[in-house]
Amino acid sequence: MHKRRAARPAAARPSGAKAAVAQASQLTSRALCALLRTADSSLLEDDGGDGRSLLLPELRLSIARPSELSFEEQDALFALLETNMRALYETSKSGWDAAEKRGEMYDPASRFLLLRPRDAGVASTLGGFLLFRFDTERCAIADPDGRAGGLVEVGYCYELQVDAASRGAGLGKVLMRHFEALALHAGMRKTMLTVFTSNECARRFYRHIGYGEDAITPARTLGPGESLSDYDYEILSRPLDWRGSR
Ligand SMILES: CC(C)(COP(=O)(O)OP(=O)(O)OC[C@H]1O[C@@H](n2cnc3c(N)ncnc32)[C@H](O)[C@@H]1OP(=O)(O)O)[C@@H](O)C(=O)NCCC(=O)NCCS
Repeated sequence: MHKRRAARPAAARPSGAKAAVAQASQLTSRALCALLRTADSSLLEDDGGDGRSLLLPELRLSIARPSELSFEEQDALFALLETNMRALYETSKSGWDAAEKRGEMYDPASRFLLLRPRDAGVASTLGGFLLFRFDTERCAIADPDGRAGGLVEVGYCYELQVDAASRGAGLGKVLMRHFEALALHAGMRKTMLTVFTSNECARRFYRHIGYGEDAITPARTLGPGESLSDYDYEILSRPLDWRGSR
């Protein structure tokens, strides 16, 4: 992916983390699509689409809120998540609760990036998807991306799922890089995610693409009497070049 240097956002940056998230939350899927095109002029709009899809070499990237997904798409996304993750959840401290997971996935604040083969129809097999939200998160005092109030505006990746048959072909990285570009151009300061410590494959992948332990990950914030074995996840993040986007 060829990404140009961060473009100057059209609107002035809001002054607090909550205001920044409120502003980003107003952006429609079409507006997010336009942000990506501004950031990367090599991206083409899908002429036959609905203004929410972009053409990449060999792939079509679509952006959607839950209300913009058909029931079939919602089922396909959930099925991919369940196939990939159910066993990991079942052995985790939180367990697997399908209803709760569906509720979290299709919360109105959720945003989806979907990847399909470029020349196949919208009903074609989903190669992978990323689910994120614009949100505030706690930040450590020493966090260079943080704010004095202890909250920072972030793009939070809730799910990254690639179909087993499509892995190793760059889809996961394409999804992450477009998510990061969206977070930056929507005015967020960093991207974050939570990963099970037992998910060694994903942990290696995230480190390979530039993620490291966030200052609020359990290993760095254990309270008195707590031990790392109380937690079965870590919190990773990657700074965005938000200072360069002013
Ligand atoms: C983790 C996952 C999303 C990776 O997606 P993917 O499409 O297979 O990864 P990509 O092909 O985009 O890989 C991008 C880069 O990461 C590297 N990579 C991928 N998986 C890796 C791994 N397990 N360890 C080290 N490097 C890895 C690739 O070699 C590639 O490197 P390059 O850019 O230098 O060539 C995918 O394996 C998956 O969906 N797993 C199951 C669901 C899951 O665990 N999701 C994460 C939940 S937190």
